[in-house]
Amino acid sequence: MRALTVLAGTSGLPGRGQPCRGYGPHAPERRFRPQERLVVEPTLSRLGGCRVYLGHAYYSVELMGQPEAVGNVELYGQRVVLRRATIADAPAFRRALNTAEVARWWEGGWPDPEGDLAKLDHQLLAIVAGGDLVGMIQWHQVCDPVVRFAGIDMFVHPDYHRRGYGSDALRTLLRWLFTDVGHHRVTIDPAIDNVAAIRCYEQCGFRRVGVMRQYERTPDDGYRDGLLMELLACDFRADV
Ligand SMILES: CC(C)(COP(=O)(O)OP(=O)(O)OC[C@H]1O[C@@H](n2cnc3c(N)ncnc32)[C@H](O)[C@@H]1OP(=O)(O)O)[C@@H](O)C(=O)NCCC(=O)NCCS
Repeated sequence: MRALTVLAGTSGLPGRGQPCRGYGPHAPERRFRPQERLVVEPTLSRLGGCRVYLGHAYYSVELMGQPEAVGNVELYGQRVVLRRATIADAPAFRRALNTAEVARWWEGGWPDPEGDLAKLDHQLLAIVAGGDLVGMIQWHQVCDPVVRFAGIDMFVHPDYHRRGYGSDALRTLLRWLFTDVGHHRVTIDPAIDNVAAIRCYEQCGFRRVGVMRQYERTPDDGYRDGLLMELLACDFRADV
């Protein structure tokens, strides 16, 4: 396995030299000092941009310029492969975002695929099926010392809807977030009237938490409600 260089930042108490354990069952234990440059295995680097617990303190871990490091995953589902998206994928993402079916739910939500894909630390994955790029799935995480969870957003180009790609992509990413990254809770937040997305997410095991009123903007400068949905690791079944 190739080692990657990261920088331990400073948040919380120093905890100098204490054993450090990253999130996730496979994260190695480390001893490091604040602002120290670290060389870690890719398992820990998957947590790029995340924070690492050190004794009674949390430390930021930031990648130091290896573009393949953050979110550098290739995940295999039953129908799709998820791989780290690159700037070359921007035109295909743009084409999907410009369709009425996708734009309806993503309008204003992601105006800049080219800009986002140029960032080293993006967590956007291309959904590939039969060699075609059929959609995008992205994840983010909150790694507060007390509150930890991951969130997901996604779209599939309408030409590929109802072929099982969206649900397979979601299950595949969920399996990785729960098993490799070590999250115990994942959320997703479709618009309240996005029936297709809500059914798809329920099929993957998500449960309705509640309605978030006036959650997101609409093109006419109004708001619409969002549905907060969650899935706990203990309720997740990759095979359903
Ligand atoms: C939501 C979305 C990603 C689903 O992708 P998909 O590849 O079509 O989904 P799947 O084929 O895996 O469908 C899984 C299940 O979702 C439900 N579903 C999907 N599309 C549906 C639709 N148009 N109407 C009702 N249910 C639907 C069904 O239960 C389906 O299972 P089934 O085909 O066995 O009946 C896709 O519709 C999409 O990209 N929509 C536009 C963008 C969007 O809304 N993104 C989500 C923002 S939160």
